[in-house]
Amino acid sequence: MSEPSLPHALTRRDFLIGGVAATAAACSSGDSTAGSESSGTPSSSAAETTTTPAPTTTTTALQPLPAPDYAGADPFGFGVASGDPDDVSIVLWTRLDPGDSPLSADQDVVVDVAGDADFAELVSSTVVTARVEHGHSVHAIADGLQPDSWYHYRFRVGDHVSTTGRTRTAPSAGESVDRLRVGVSSCQNWELGTFVAHRHLAESELDLFVFLGDYVYEYAPNEPTVTTSAGPRIHDGPEPRDLDDYRRRYSQYRRDPDLQAHHAAHPWLVVWDDHEVDNNYAGLVPAGGEPSDAFAARRHDAYRVWWEFTPVRTGPPTPDGLRIHRTVGWGDLADIHMLDGRQYRDPQPTDGEPVDIPGAGDLGARALGPTALDPDHTMLGSEQEVWFVGQVSSSSARWQLVGNQVMMHGIKAFPGDVPVTPTDTWDGYHASREQLLERLADASNLVVLTGDFHSATIADLRSDPFDLARPIVGAELMAPAISSQFVEALRPIAPLALSINPQVRHFDPENGYIVCTVDTDKVIAELFIVDDVTDERSGVEMTARATIIAGTPGIESVELIPG
Ligand SMILES: [Fe+2]
Repeated sequence: MSEPSLPHALTRRDFLIGGVAATAAACSSGDSTAGSESSGTPSSSAAETTTTPAPTTTTTALQPLPAPDYAGADPFGFGVASGDPDDVSIVLWTRLDPGDSPLSADQDVVVDVAGDADFAELVSSTVVTARVEHGHSVHAIADGLQPDSWYHYRFRVGDHVSTTGRTRTAPSAGESVDRLRVGVSSCQNWELGTFVAHRHLAESELDLFVFLGDYVYEYAPNEPTVTTSAGPRIHDGPEPRDLDDYRRRYSQYRRDPDLQAHHAAHPWLVVWDDHEVDNNYAGLVPAGGEPSDAFAARRHDAYRVWWEFTPVRTGPPTPDGLRIHRTVGWGDLADIHMLDGRQYRDPQPTDGEPVDIPGAGDLGARALGPTALDPDHTMLGSEQEVWFVGQVSSSSARWQLVGNQVMMHGIKAFPGDVPVTPTDTWDGYHASREQLLERLADASNLVVLTGDFHSATIADLRSDPFDLARPIVGAELMAPAISSQFVEALRPIAPLALSINPQVRHFDPENGYIVCTVDTDKVIAELFIVDDVTDERSGVEMTARATIIAGTPGIESVELIPG
């Protein structure tokens, strides 16, 4: 697979202070996309790819640039965002909102970075170009920053000024770090609930937020699904299948004020799952039986629009795809490995005996069969697996945090000798999971962060989840969904399933998020549940607190918090 090019890097030649620069920097290319992979020392290797060697301090912001007529609309109607920090730089994002009159030309945008919210302590004022071909998205790398430091940023076009975002750099590789606060969630179906969880996350004290996929849903308006019927909101436009459709869908989601507030509050690490393209697709194989050529074009358009709307340290996709697996380092405390469980996966098994869920029929549960038991049948693809094991094995960080899309801890739906499992999860890749977790068994302090299942699950990880004689090798924290709903038909069988899956230490099928506080000795994972996801003013309550102790794999304890 060819590597995509990097987004605009704000190099020294772009810093035309007090004047107007014509354009942004040229793009770089090569192994630097993921920042960390070449050396296994995420922060330092990422720093080598940038070209500004020292902080650039200025006292004067660039003058406003000429702007097209927005006819009273806000060109920053999609808000601002930041993501993928390393120790000296951060990706700053916006996307010009054309309103009712699409922009037909490239547009220069000023990016201001400061040490304070009033921009009195200006660090840099730079011009980048929002290009037509990129949907007027901006992925600017603010460079030459101080490690382990907070900044404010904003964008300007003409007289228009964006909202101010707040973000931070990571500590340098090897730097002693006492604490990291990470929020985790996923799955935000617009139709099934408000994004009130994001409002509470925006107000939380976090260093990072990890979003694990299903940022948009591709369903048509009011399309019936296995999760629930119509909710409080409705999708705009038909099921997306091309560039314009996906842009329309993301545009709807990105106008949500709570989502915008959360993006502006902290840096995010984002990966996709299936709904950014199509439910339950695998690699280039759609679940819905589309012709392969048509699906390849659809996936390319979907990846392209995901990139346009995401503060991620990469360029747009090539015809081969878009590499998004990467490692972000946090000093000596943690490495965070973000995985891609969709782009390279083999299709879900179809050869195990299907088993209906009572009252719901076929939901994709099958007895483990030959394909799931084939170690060469993989979710990550062999290249990414080798990379992942190498990143973990070479890391000297205290904790190995993993951003993962779908359930890894395994679950069997019914009692019986042959486990009946959901095939879209790691259970559909049972033997390759076993192989992978055995290779990671010596990793120090493995904590897998997961989304997808529209419920919170706190669980122990074994290389074979259904062989309780195996040692526990790590912990999995499955965050609840922002707004998507747990499969209603699974609620009646949940008590039986929990009774036969002792690896599950806590389960809650409601909406919310997890906040992890990581220190040298332990991880405290606090589960927050939204009172009423249909109410954008809803409160949120902490309902459980899990503890993971360094040196002791798995979940140490789960404390329920009385309501
Ligand atoms: Fe989802």
